[in-house]
Amino acid sequence: MINKQSHRKDEHVSLAIKFYNDNSNAGFDQIRFIHQGVPEISVSDVDYSTSFDGINMNVPFYIEAMTGGSSYTKKLNEKLARIAKKTGLAMATGSQSVALKDSSESSSFEIVRNTNPDGIIFSNIGSSVDPTNAQKAIEMMNSDALEVHINTPQELIMPEGDRDFYWLDNIKNIVNAIDKPVIVKEVGFGMAKETIAKLTDIGVKNINISGNGGTNFARIENYRRKHQELSYLDNWGQSTVESLFEAYAFSDDVNILASGGIRTPLDIVKSLSLGAKAVGMAAPILYSLIKNGEDATVEMIEEYKNGIKVIMTMLGARNISDLKKQKLILSSDLLAYLKQRGIT
Ligand code: FNR
Repeated sequence: MINKQSHRKDEHVSLAIKFYNDNSNAGFDQIRFIHQGVPEISVSDVDYSTSFDGINMNVPFYIEAMTGGSSYTKKLNEKLARIAKKTGLAMATGSQSVALKDSSESSSFEIVRNTNPDGIIFSNIGSSVDPTNAQKAIEMMNSDALEVHINTPQELIMPEGDRDFYWLDNIKNIVNAIDKPVIVKEVGFGMAKETIAKLTDIGVKNINISGNGGTNFARIENYRRKHQELSYLDNWGQSTVESLFEAYAFSDDVNILASGGIRTPLDIVKSLSLGAKAVGMAAPILYSLIKNGEDATVEMIEEYKNGIKVIMTMLGARNISDLKKQKLILSSDLLAYLKQRGIT
């Protein structure tokens, strides 16, 4: 029998694909690099490896949290894990909360570690999961890090979602109890500096601002409602670029990760230059897998890797810290946003 939660996992996949748009609206068109005509560098000089909180990544982007918790998404997780293995990408799974409630769903996550024994894997849970279950989520896949997602709008738009949002004490307890890196992550609504300050105050060391402009869970959950009456919330949140600026002042003390509407290698490089230590892509990889298959997705990822090297070469950037020194040109809209937010 298919339970309600498993059905929801399948629906999230089909709606993310239905609404998928190659042209994200995450704000990357509002920043430009300056072309460097004599960059004095070879492609082979470029090293795009990155690290944060003891996690060393050969590639600065990774497969962001999506699936697991049903027999269909088990198959998707297995394929994503094979893609991660072939391309050397780290991979997060979708929320394991379903498997913590019903152990018969654990196999759809365990398969990720079984398929990719040596890969970097991130667990994922909701913010109300207690520290004991957080530890179980890590053990389920012998994961290298734990993502804890914050998703207030999604829960509120879901008729069956949470209605209580006292999360900070629990997140603090998770951070204190878990001896692996803990990443607090949005799901596509972005983060403001006030949110980031509250998280750093309780000891959070890694934050994924996952901004709006890509996969839109306000739209997905509204579509699942009987009358779809909450469409006025479709644009809720801060874009990925706005969120990266919101986070910038924190980026010396906290590891900032980016996701949300990352659709090209240029988006990845811009995110890295705005201080992200690593960049997550969710829907583009799922879309490619479902529409074009596993081999084509591996090829797409290899093209992304090459694209990042091409851009870094044009900029004369040998590594990620060189990218952070690039001067950027900002649109007048973005400048107005930053002025109103007191971000300089
Ligand atoms: C997600 N996302 C997500 N995030 C999370 O922390 N836990 C989860 O279980 C899920 N589930 C999920 C399912 C599907 C089908 C998609 C497409 C996405 C959100 C995801 O990790 C990411 O934050 C957003 O999708 C924004 O990135 P993209 O899709 O625009 O690259």
